[in-house]
Amino acid sequence: AAAAAAPDAADRKYPEAIIIGVKKAGTRALLEFLRLNPHVKAPGPEVHFFDRHYEKGRDWYRSQMPESQDGDVTIEKSPAYFISKSAPARIKEFNPKMKLIVVLRDPVTRAISDYTQASSKKRRLGQMPSFERMAVGDCAPWSRVNCSVKTREGVNGGWGAVRIGVYHKYLKRWLDHFPMDQFHFVDGQKLIDEPAGEVRRVEEFLGLQPVVRPSDFEVDSVKKFPCIVNGDGTHHCLGKTKGRPHPKVDEPVLKRLKRFYKPENDKLFSMIHQKFEWN
Ligand code: A3P
Repeated sequence: AAAAAAPDAADRKYPEAIIIGVKKAGTRALLEFLRLNPHVKAPGPEVHFFDRHYEKGRDWYRSQMPESQDGDVTIEKSPAYFISKSAPARIKEFNPKMKLIVVLRDPVTRAISDYTQASSKKRRLGQMPSFERMAVGDCAPWSRVNCSVKTREGVNGGWGAVRIGVYHKYLKRWLDHFPMDQFHFVDGQKLIDEPAGEVRRVEEFLGLQPVVRPSDFEVDSVKKFPCIVNGDGTHHCLGKTKGRPHPKVDEPVLKRLKRFYKPENDKLFSMIHQKFEWN
């Protein structure tokens, strides 16, 4: 009998779409929910090929993908690509037709989420300053961020958690390489409030027959976020690091951040010809 083709070579396809960002906007939820569609094939971990592991080469990249069949769409998610200076050109060179999916969320909420993650990781290095002190204060004793230069509204625009929310700045780099019709923008807030609709639009963008339905989700009473309803009625929720409780942030600080982001959001909306109802 003829030897079977090496499965590693035959059955793994390069992604034709990538969830490129944005970190803490709901990228894991989107990927997990998309996988309800049996034709969506995606690796669990973030691959980081176009930023960290580029020198490992294309064969390595493909070896990270799960096996797939004709009619399947392979995708990956590495939200750090969004802010990577090298990723846009590399992806363009890799496949100029790549579909790019971007999850966007109110940048104020995103910043608090980012802070919550950072402070949970850094706990052993000593307590991080409060969110307020990082966003509009002196950042002391967190010397790794320069908070002596304030941007508009007295906000520390140089702090990563704030800076990443200036979405149009990063998106501009992508638009230098890819036409608008290769992008699909997901509202990270709607992904929480009404997941089926957001997921369906992505299925369509991927050229798939949509199969994900509202009845696939229920808000879990403990998790307080939508979870996937299993066949037996039990809930499959995202892991402990998704949907963390956020610190309560002082109202005046929230207001300043909102004012800071307002013109930035407007720039984004006109860039993508789409508006999100964030506050
Ligand atoms: P928080 O943990 O700060 O609430 P990402 O996967 O891109 O890092 O985004 C994480 C965020 O996804 C979470 O931030 C959470 O708010 C949001 N999210 C959206 N849908 C979710 C869901 N169904 N379960 C848990 N978190 C969800």
